[in-house]
Amino acid sequence: MEYEIAGIVVALLLWAAWAVSTERRHRRLPPGPRPWPVVGNMLQLARSASAPHQSFAELAGKHGAVMTLWLGSMTTVVVSSAEAARAMFKHHDAALAGRKIYESMKGDVGNEGSLITAQYGPHWRTLRRLCTAEFFAAGPLDAMRGVRARCVAQMLHYVREAAAADDGAGTDVGRFFFLMAFNLIGNLMFSKDLLDPASERGAEFFYHAGKTMEFAGKPNMADYFPALRWADPQRIRRRTQFHVKQAFNVAGEFLRERMREREEDVEKKKDYLDVLLEYKGDGVEGPAVFSSTIINVIVFEMFTAGTDTTTSTLEWAMAELLRNPDALRKVQAELRGVIGAGEKVEEEKLEELPYLKSVIKETLRLHPPLPFLVPHKAMESCEMLGFHIPKETQILVNVWAIGRDPKRWKDPQEFKPERFMDGDTAADYKGHHFEFIPFGSGRRMCPAVPLAARVLPLALGSVLHSFDWVLGGGMKAAEMDMRERMGITLRKAVPLRAIPIPYHQAHF
Ligand code: HEM
Repeated sequence: MEYEIAGIVVALLLWAAWAVSTERRHRRLPPGPRPWPVVGNMLQLARSASAPHQSFAELAGKHGAVMTLWLGSMTTVVVSSAEAARAMFKHHDAALAGRKIYESMKGDVGNEGSLITAQYGPHWRTLRRLCTAEFFAAGPLDAMRGVRARCVAQMLHYVREAAAADDGAGTDVGRFFFLMAFNLIGNLMFSKDLLDPASERGAEFFYHAGKTMEFAGKPNMADYFPALRWADPQRIRRRTQFHVKQAFNVAGEFLRERMREREEDVEKKKDYLDVLLEYKGDGVEGPAVFSSTIINVIVFEMFTAGTDTTTSTLEWAMAELLRNPDALRKVQAELRGVIGAGEKVEEEKLEELPYLKSVIKETLRLHPPLPFLVPHKAMESCEMLGFHIPKETQILVNVWAIGRDPKRWKDPQEFKPERFMDGDTAADYKGHHFEFIPFGSGRRMCPAVPLAARVLPLALGSVLHSFDWVLGGGMKAAEMDMRERMGITLRKAVPLRAIPIPYHQAHF
């Protein structure tokens, strides 16, 4: 009996010590809603699984611009204001430049060689330098101008076909943009039209890449409850890894084909695959050559990073323009004033199209495709704005909330491209204006900004110059459903359907 009582007393003392130390640790963490045992704040957030950026923004309104959430066992700090983002990227960029790795990305393929999921360190630096210098610098981008023009011309051809076949219901606008973006990356990487009906292997790659993005974008219980990891209860890891492997098989074939061509000295323009095959180390750190696994991973990542982000931005831009007819008229007048009827929109002309470029910025402010950036992770503990951020914490930067902050933006919910044309708010994409960071900021910011800054206005300008657009099914602008759905990117929940009317046909 005495032993039992002593045991209970010891247990109570241990529990009290644990509770006090947890309370102390929590006290130094940024504030947040009170968590439940085991599930943390998951129940409070479950209602809004399709729009977590919105519920996180609401919670930040109550708890502050640096806030702790417990997603199951995952400690997460959410940054929700321009000031807090400045503190993060200006003063703690290196400490917070790690990546949180989700279950869907784990497996025998997927992590080795990755740039997006690499932890901040020598391997990441090597890939990043290569990407910045060989893929997205002005020289290589200029050399690939023709490829972009060809992919956009092909998209216009598909839109023309859809216009001829339209019965008044309208056509899925996002699909044209997705095909263009996918085809563009296929051409930058392999000089191949993956969507050419003659390319069976291209269609296979397209299918598996799409499925990978679909599964990787689903919320996964195994990320939040480590005890469930072995079971993979929603089969997300197994499914994602299956499709990644299938896509790698196809990419591996393209790689072998290219190596044969190189041995046979087949003459062709240099693409990204050649850059990766010719890599001989950068003399600073990292490998001297890339293995075929690393090449497959890099190739695949360019598709996952580049297609959904581009598609989402362009679909939202069209939706906002159709809902705001004045802005639509203004951008078309600018385009048709600068570029004659029957001529093509070309990259050289983009400088003369400031309103078009502002339409893209305003779209990215309201609808950043990655509303939390790509999740960061604290590599080291640090003190930020007086709060303790423990090592391994996941950091989400709510750029969606920052872009709509009424303290920073006048009429934040309104679509007003003009705001980017006057000096005060003429923010660029470089990540120095912390109220507008759709591409991130600091070390981990998107390396493809120079590519995106050309492709987005080129593609949007082309469909607006060559076609007039009306909503499908006789819908009125005020009736449009503008709800958002979170997958791998923030997409329009109800795909936009609109009718393209060739410009000349509309005006004769
Ligand atoms: C609308 C277009 C795009 C947007 C808004 C966008 C946005 C972003 C964002 C927010 C990040 C993460 C930044 C961070 O975690 O701090 C990122 C990373 C990345 N993006 Fe983009 N992106 C776009 C297009 C592209 C394209 C076209 C490519 C490639 C062809 C690309 C390749 C990458 C890569 C490789 C990373 C990982 C960088 C790293 O972890 O160091 N992105 N992008």
